[in-house]
Amino acid sequence: MKILIIGGAGFIGSNFIKYILDKHKNVEILNYDKLTYSGNLDNLKEIESDRRYRFIKGDVADKKRLEKVFINFRPNYVINFAAETHVDKSIHVGAKEFIDTNIIGVFNILELVKANFKIKKYVQVSTDEVYGSLPLNSKNKFKEITAFAPNVPYAATKASGDMLCRAYYNTFKVPVVVTHCSNNFGPYQYPEKLIPFFILRMLENKKLPIYGDGKNVRDWIYVLDHCEALRLCLLNGKIGEVYNIGADNEMNNLEIADLILKNFNRNKSWIEFIFDRPGHDRRYSVDSSKIRKELEWKPKYNFKKTFQFTIKWYLENKKWVDKVRKKTGVFNPHIDLWKKHKLKK
Ligand SMILES: NC(=O)c1ccc[n+]([C@@H]2O[C@H](COP(=O)([O-])OP(=O)(O)OC[C@H]3O[C@@H](n4cnc5c(N)ncnc54)[C@H](O)[C@@H]3O)[C@@H](O)[C@H]2O)c1
Repeated sequence: MKILIIGGAGFIGSNFIKYILDKHKNVEILNYDKLTYSGNLDNLKEIESDRRYRFIKGDVADKKRLEKVFINFRPNYVINFAAETHVDKSIHVGAKEFIDTNIIGVFNILELVKANFKIKKYVQVSTDEVYGSLPLNSKNKFKEITAFAPNVPYAATKASGDMLCRAYYNTFKVPVVVTHCSNNFGPYQYPEKLIPFFILRMLENKKLPIYGDGKNVRDWIYVLDHCEALRLCLLNGKIGEVYNIGADNEMNNLEIADLILKNFNRNKSWIEFIFDRPGHDRRYSVDSSKIRKELEWKPKYNFKKTFQFTIKWYLENKKWVDKVRKKTGVFNPHIDLWKKHKLKK
């Protein structure tokens, strides 16, 4: 089995590469990644000398370079993690890079898979954010048939990539499967995202900034549960289908902050409320009954244990954290922009 993994140096992609190497002895992996600020080869240090693994630096939006990789490596499976993923960045810096990577990048992959009939399957890793927002006081969940209603540029570009996948399957029978997963957490997540951001704020003796009233709900899943779902989609997912992935674990931002504060023996005075993010979705909740039934997937990791493990991982991997900090300076520069915004009001 030869798998081309695009964007494998980021949080989920690097966890996935190690997971696959562990599960499948007879596998060859080529990781093609641009190494943007969130891509980090240190995430793959444990396996960099594994003979079944290779890395090539490259941009998914660069079709010529990607085409060479398809021709030389001749994968039978392709999975795409490459994306601009930070919602705040898509608002403050602009959506151009999101359009290049999340739309043009997917278009390039689809064209190359279309031209290469030996590829058994291409899995496009997407997000529940494409479905938009659910009301707080409802029991509704996103289903695979829920209409897309993205509210921020990041989600709009992911939705565009997903729609291209749908069209390429229906028009050209390109063997693609699209997944929509909820919020992931775990080791190696770039510390601009909520959980590692809060953990590192605590270590720096800084308050936890919370958008708006803090009641925005996300459906949290441990990264290795997502990796197993993706492995099943790659091997057994039905071509042309869409699968939602979620662990039925809804929590709001205040509850997440509370868990982290308790861990560091701090009280609620360490929370500061800041200006709410424009387009901030209120609630995400994923109905994952289809993948559970059809691919016999279910989450196996316990939230409390993996949450504790994740905190411990960031505390014990100071070298990783320091190196990331040195490379990019502030983990989430956007937070200070929101704070200024609040002062102006
Ligand atoms: N993190 C989550 O909670 C979550 C939830 C659901 C879905 N997803 C999706 O999973 C995928 C991976 O997310 P993540 O959290 O690991 O993101 P990440 O930001 O940690 O990693 C993204 C990776 O893509 C690479 N990349 C970016 N632009 C590229 C380009 N033009 N060409 C090649 N490589 C490029 C980066 O270098 C990095 O290695 C994304 O598609 C995201 O939309 C993430």
